[in-house]
Amino acid sequence: MSRPRSADPTESRRKRSAADSREATVSAVTAVGSAPKRRSLSGRPVVITGAASGIGRALATRLSRLGSPVALADVDEDGLKAAAAALSGRVLTRVLDVRDAEDQLRFAAEVREWLPAPLAAVFNNAGVAVTSTVLDAVPEDDDWLHDINFRGVVHGTRAFLPVLVAQGEGAIVNTSSVFGLLGMPYQSAYCAAKFAVRGFTESLRQELRGTAVRAITVHPGGITTNIARNARMRRDPEGLGRTKEQLAAQFEAMTMTSPDKAAAVIHAGVDRGKARILVGPDAYLFDALARVTPTHYNAVLTRVLRRRRTEAVT
Ligand SMILES: NC(=O)c1ccc[n+]([C@@H]2O[C@H](COP(=O)([O-])OP(=O)(O)OC[C@H]3O[C@@H](n4cnc5c(N)ncnc54)[C@H](O)[C@@H]3O)[C@@H](O)[C@H]2O)c1
Repeated sequence: MSRPRSADPTESRRKRSAADSREATVSAVTAVGSAPKRRSLSGRPVVITGAASGIGRALATRLSRLGSPVALADVDEDGLKAAAAALSGRVLTRVLDVRDAEDQLRFAAEVREWLPAPLAAVFNNAGVAVTSTVLDAVPEDDDWLHDINFRGVVHGTRAFLPVLVAQGEGAIVNTSSVFGLLGMPYQSAYCAAKFAVRGFTESLRQELRGTAVRAITVHPGGITTNIARNARMRRDPEGLGRTKEQLAAQFEAMTMTSPDKAAAVIHAGVDRGKARILVGPDAYLFDALARVTPTHYNAVLTRVLRRRRTEAVT
């Protein structure tokens, strides 16, 4: 008579190991199938580039006030110092040009040392603008923009993604624009870079499926910041002889959202687990037009922008 199989130590080891591996498979499937755990950013450490001004500074102010330790980076040293001086919580400041991939890696290593708790989010937010027709575009200006707005985001993602993957959680939050949803005249370099940020981040999102690390795109509409004043413009693209300052004033008058409001919307979007965050009422219009009329949106936008421009002047 054969002995009961379970009494055979080799056999029972084999069964145990089969059960273990089934369990491992089930828990892996459960991990893949279950929704990633979601916690508020409030009180948890974040990294923000372009933190000396505009949206980045407003995010730093908001999250610091809510108890988050903030690691702030910007190429503008004075602006960065001023932003940090206004905060009462824990702050790391770092002068950083986001175009420098090696320095982004060094910054990530410094942040890793400094972190008082797992890193909740990295906001690759630094950005600049160029206004020009395609015909008049100066390659040097276009390269400047692409290196900051697109490659800077890629360098920041590559520097910090290993930290988030090692933790098994966190968010990469990359700033695109409504100009990453639709093409706009005189913004070819900016639109190209912001579409690229969207494509890059959406690809990353697919790679991260089933993990608790998230890749999020932010698409702000017009936000009242310094972006137009800091833009490069060699000549009025419409040939009307306007200066950069005049165009910047016009842009600012047409914006619908303050940096503080933008920061609140972005914060809420990350907390709610959104993959794509639209900021401002105009962002919803751009998004709707991109879906409803992907080739004829310009006629609608021209009418809306003309009306807002007239309202801004009168
Ligand atoms: N303001 C808007 O209407 C609007 C709309 C859509 C998207 N955005 C995007 O939002 C982001 C923030 O812009 P903002 O409107 O707050 O502008 P902003 O000019 O007020 O702030 C941008 C910050 O980025 C910093 N920066 C520029 N080049 C850098 C570099 N090489 N390295 C590190 N920092 C650098 C600047 O010093 C500045 O502090 C940008 O990516 C911008 O393209 C803005």
